[in-house]
Amino acid sequence: MNLDIYLGGELVAQTSPRSRGTKFVIEYTDAVRSTREPGTPVLSCSLPAPGPSAPAAAWAFLEGLLPEGAALNAMAAGVRNVRLQDGATAQPSDAVNLLAEYGRECAGAVAVVPRGEPAPGPGRYQGIDVDNIARALADLPRRPLGADPDSDIRMSLAGNQPKLLLARQHDQWYQPVHGAPSTHILKPTGVWTLSADNECAVMTIARAVGLTDSQVWVETFGDIRVCVAQRYDRKSGPGGEVVRLHQEDMCQALGMRPREKYLTGRPSGRMAALLREVPTVDPRQAIRSLLRQVAFRAIVGDEDGHGKNVGLLLDGSMVRLAPMYDALTTQLYPDLSGKLGAPVGSQENLAKVDLGALVEEGVACGIDENSARRLIVTLADEIAEAARNLPAEGLDEQAVHAVKDTVLLRIERLRRGEQMGTPPAGAVLSARTARSSGTLDRATLARTSPSDVTSDLRRGR
Ligand SMILES: Nc1ncnc2c1ncn2[C@@H]1O[C@H](COP(=O)(O)OP(=O)(O)OP(=O)(O)O)[C@@H](O)[C@H]1O
Ligand SMILES: [Mg+2]
Repeated sequence: MNLDIYLGGELVAQTSPRSRGTKFVIEYTDAVRSTREPGTPVLSCSLPAPGPSAPAAAWAFLEGLLPEGAALNAMAAGVRNVRLQDGATAQPSDAVNLLAEYGRECAGAVAVVPRGEPAPGPGRYQGIDVDNIARALADLPRRPLGADPDSDIRMSLAGNQPKLLLARQHDQWYQPVHGAPSTHILKPTGVWTLSADNECAVMTIARAVGLTDSQVWVETFGDIRVCVAQRYDRKSGPGGEVVRLHQEDMCQALGMRPREKYLTGRPSGRMAALLREVPTVDPRQAIRSLLRQVAFRAIVGDEDGHGKNVGLLLDGSMVRLAPMYDALTTQLYPDLSGKLGAPVGSQENLAKVDLGALVEEGVACGIDENSARRLIVTLADEIAEAARNLPAEGLDEQAVHAVKDTVLLRIERLRRGEQMGTPPAGAVLSARTARSSGTLDRATLARTSPSDVTSDLRRGR
């Protein structure tokens, strides 16, 4: 199996096997090679034109388009010749086979078809009512993302959490069929009590401080509360059609596989170094935006800062930091360890982060100490203001209070030069026992203790 890789409707690259099909490289087409400047990050910063890529970079990019954990397993169950390793990681040929089956609608502007198949068309939208959305949400363990190859709904998106991809037009929901672009990501509340409300509250704060423009709200389908996020990698074209904007995540950009997302060493420093290397309109600004995202996550009490939770937008020649996504106050769940996915300064625990650690992180990004301190203090002021004004409309009151009280207390401590500590008494969203629900695997994997999980994976468990 080989893939034709399209970007915004243009055939830009193909996979070619190496080492008797155990590895693959990605080669840009002649059209791309002859028209793009050498070094242009067409598909990925790790796949600069003219290529061909290193096999490891191709693997990281392709695997990086796929979900992780239980969702990947469920998708793999129906695909021929796919045998995931360690329970849930894809070898290069698995990634190719899975994308041949599911890759018509991916993150950014990528669409993948088996080599030689017709180019993906615009697809079409099929109306879906709230009862059927509730059914699709309940069915996510079996049909991740709502994908259903038998009905030609072939979609892929990274991440460990269950998600449903839909399109929304004129206040109606649609299923994207035959490769049509989705426009919204729907994340249901599962194991973590009120997680949709929690994420929505935090992302509303992110929006208020300018870290994203995407709309976010909570909607209920049946009895399932869902955090709905508008996709920032989709926009409306001149004729009202949905246009894809290209993006990748930092793991793909750094040529790292999803299982390596808990970047070791100085993650912000590595990401900042990348932003200095690739063509960026204003690298200084991009690095400041990166520090704002990293500091935001720490201040709101989110332990899950990893390489797949920071994105880049690629417009064909230039790279920009993508808006913020996937932030929530994980500290409200006492079952989680509080261990940071990526250390902040020299601190590895969310409760121990203080202004000094955040400034250290800024310095690791190459920002001078005083500017980093000013940026963080200003951001903390903005977050406090946004948290105080958090609109509670449509959100669960308990979740809003828990987020607001925790964030405000953390900022108060930050201003006093203290460690930001644990949430105030009572600001806890009791977690249902993760293992009993059997629907999600945030508990079994990503959020329990990121580094324990990665080392378990390394040991091949
Ligand atoms: N609003 C958005 N617009 C466009 N792309 C998004 C948006 N939110 C998330 N994504 C993309 O979807 C991927 C998965 O989303 P997200 O990180 O929210 O999922 P998750 O399953 O909660 O992740 P994790 O595994 O970190 O828990 C992201 O890595 C990013 O590429
Ligand atoms: Mg994520």
